[in-house]
Amino acid sequence: MSEQDVDKSRRRFLTAATTVVGTIGAGAAVVPFVGSMMPSARALSAGAPVEVDISKLEPGRRVVVEWRKKPVWVLYRTKQNLEDLAKMEPRLADVESNSSRQPSYAKNKHRSIKPEYLVVIGICTHLGCSPQYRPEVGDLSFEANWLGGFFCPCHGSKFDLAGRVFKGVPAPVNLVIPPYSYTNGDKVVVIGEDGGAA
Ligand code: FES
Repeated sequence: MSEQDVDKSRRRFLTAATTVVGTIGAGAAVVPFVGSMMPSARALSAGAPVEVDISKLEPGRRVVVEWRKKPVWVLYRTKQNLEDLAKMEPRLADVESNSSRQPSYAKNKHRSIKPEYLVVIGICTHLGCSPQYRPEVGDLSFEANWLGGFFCPCHGSKFDLAGRVFKGVPAPVNLVIPPYSYTNGDKVVVIGEDGGAA
């Protein structure tokens, strides 16, 4: 990749990150550390791992980065979010993620290495739209007693805050968990690299 190509890729990444951060949702503040999410030139090349600094991410907030041309969400779930995961189970199609391919370290109720941080590919498992992050709680137009999750506007699929799909929606399986790991005192998530732990 030439220097010019790297510059173009960097610009694309920053534009994407800024755009997505700006659409996190009503009431959510802009995440103030877009610059710290910049991947290295190595990470910008196709398939390389992408590092995400989560040291300033606040509970309830999400950052979006691009890995292998896909959006990956890193969501800092609140204590309440984690408690609510169990309440969602009667409404979910695959509580234990039996039908989803995912790393072994995500085979748990919260589908993550650390309970509070969800790392998931932000692509609907129906036909590939990007679901919206809907952290609100209450009766929403698409679901009564919503406890926060992800809603796909294309055909109405719903996922909880662990990316688990609801019953009776078009999406057949849970959202996909990518390989990832932590580094730098657990302040950085490395997406695309898990040292073979999967
Ligand atoms: S692409 Fe998400 S519901 Fe169809």
